Amino acid sequence: MKKPLMVGNWKMNKTVSEAIEFVKILKNTISDVTDIEILICPPFTALYAVNNETRDSNINLGAQNLFWESNGAFTGEISPTMIKDIGCSYAIIGHSERRQYFTETNKIINKKTKAAFVTTLTPILCVGETLKEREDNVAFKVIEKQVREGLFGLTLEQASSIVIAYEPIWAIGTGETSSPEQAQEMHCFIRKIYEKMYSKNIADKVRILYGGSINPNNVSDLMKKPDINGGLVGGASLEAESFTKLIRYFK
Ligand code: PGA
Repeated sequence: MKKPLMVGNWKMNKTVSEAIEFVKILKNTISDVTDIEILICPPFTALYAVNNETRDSNINLGAQNLFWESNGAFTGEISPTMIKDIGCSYAIIGHSERRQYFTETNKIINKKTKAAFVTTLTPILCVGETLKEREDNVAFKVIEKQVREGLFGLTLEQASSIVIAYEPIWAIGTGETSSPEQAQEMHCFIRKIYEKMYSKNIADKVRILYGGSINPNNVSDLMKKPDINGGLVGGASLEAESFTKLIRYFK
């Protein structure tokens, strides 16, 4: 059985003191949770302070992005080595906001994915279609391209340990969640791509998260679906109370 993973993606939110305040609460409310993996992805500026708080807890730490080089003259960028050094074990890569506002292509995302593995960070590779692509009936084609090009050149071991996050863009921050059936259909499709690219065994192993307006009311119906192995949560991860409810969805 794959251990479900619940990820809080804070995006560009929270100062250091707000981040510490959040973590102090969360540590207490979820300290007994062992059957679900918990991950928070604060902004870079809060990682050091948050790591000091979470080090001996069941909360893992991740970054929201990285650059593919390990050091050098790349003003403003943060390397996988630095992210690992600050206490992260995961990095979100290719979030649709990065694809949209920072023109990240599948090629760039693939470079970042490979760079994460060099420092043993686990990449969370995000894929998702726009509303127009869904309406034009090309969503499956778009997702297949993002998955194939994002995973290009990975070893079998890397392909099975990476986490995929399916986040339909029309459901991110809109309050409009994909129905559990719609999400399951795409997750199953992604697993089929995996089967074609690698093997059934690796397809069964990979964790595929759903993201897009997850909240305490819709989480359990989504997580009941057989191919949904956790969530990538934006808005509802910003308050310790609602994020706790998401982590405890199985109760
Ligand atoms: P949301 O964001 O939960 O606010 O829709 C999800 C995400 O972008 O990861």
